[in-house]
Amino acid sequence: MLHKRLLSGIQPSGRLHIGNYFGALKQFVDLQDKYECYFMIADYHALHSVNSREELRENILNTAIDYLAIGLDPAKVTIFQQSQVSEHTELAWIFDTITSMPYLMRAHAFKDAEAKNKDISVGTFNYPMLMASDILLYDPEIVPVGQDQKQHIEITRDTAGKFNSTYTELFKLPEALIIENVAIVPGIDGRKMSKSYRNTIELFATREEIEKAVMSIVTDSETDVPTNVYAIHKLFKSESELKSLYEENKGKYKILKEALIEDIDVFISPIRQRREELLNDKKAIIKILNDGSAIAKVLAEEKMVKVRNAVGVSLIDN
Ligand code: ADP
Ligand code: TRP
Repeated sequence: MLHKRLLSGIQPSGRLHIGNYFGALKQFVDLQDKYECYFMIADYHALHSVNSREELRENILNTAIDYLAIGLDPAKVTIFQQSQVSEHTELAWIFDTITSMPYLMRAHAFKDAEAKNKDISVGTFNYPMLMASDILLYDPEIVPVGQDQKQHIEITRDTAGKFNSTYTELFKLPEALIIENVAIVPGIDGRKMSKSYRNTIELFATREEIEKAVMSIVTDSETDVPTNVYAIHKLFKSESELKSLYEENKGKYKILKEALIEDIDVFISPIRQRREELLNDKKAIIKILNDGSAIAKVLAEEKMVKVRNAVGVSLIDN
């Protein structure tokens, strides 16, 4: 009997990269036997960046396929689509009403967008409220995420506290689970790997794509050990396994990069193949998402009944 609950999610906003995998998704797979797990596809969050109907549809299906290809087992975990559980947006509204603008203005994502002088949407500003709802509806003990999501979990905890003190003790405060040595996976230019920096190595890359990405890893010609190559290599092999390779090939960047290409390809090949197989059965994927969403909906609705009671919009006690 699994008691502890875990929830996490990713936005279906494009192809996954190895930063997403080592920073967040790998933990999902590792933890699926230890917790009662809910893995969400945050499609309403993705509307911030994806405005094409075809692209969003495609991305949602692809994210579900990616979840399965890396080894999440729908017989053990619940995989669901955020938009199919309307309680998420409903609760987000209630959280909006107890959260101040100055408080949300301190969020990194908002400050970054502001610094870039972007025409920030109300949804981008409110983003942490929807994320708090995603989490708090399910009372999870832990939320595995990458380092960049840490503040969102803190905001979630604050919001739970605010609701509990304003109305009644209804929400459990979740903990972020961040694996320290992979908290920030570097990209091929040494900065944090991110879609928006175009410095990624895709999780389901073909051999050619791996070669192209690795060959363009930025190397500093001053050192024997190419820092950026090594930082990525250590995700695929232990430091003791890499020791002799790097000692014997000091300054030989090409050989080291070729070894890295090989190691990445050995890792990616089987999951790439599994992904190809899953692509052939979209109906089965849609069924997994619909079934998972129905399970999530039951829990979310149970919680929302309590929330509506607590704030006073229910006219009779449920
Ligand atoms: P991106 O920055 O490419 O848009 P997302 O923001 O969609 O990535 O991140 C999805 C998940 O992957 C989050 O849990 C995030 O913390 C994690 N993640 C993203 N990039 C990295 C990285 N470079 N290192 C570690 N974790 C990451
Ligand atoms: N904000 C997260 C990201 O960009 C995705 C997300 C949405 C999420 N809701 C969540 C992650 C709830 C964990 C729990 O990666």
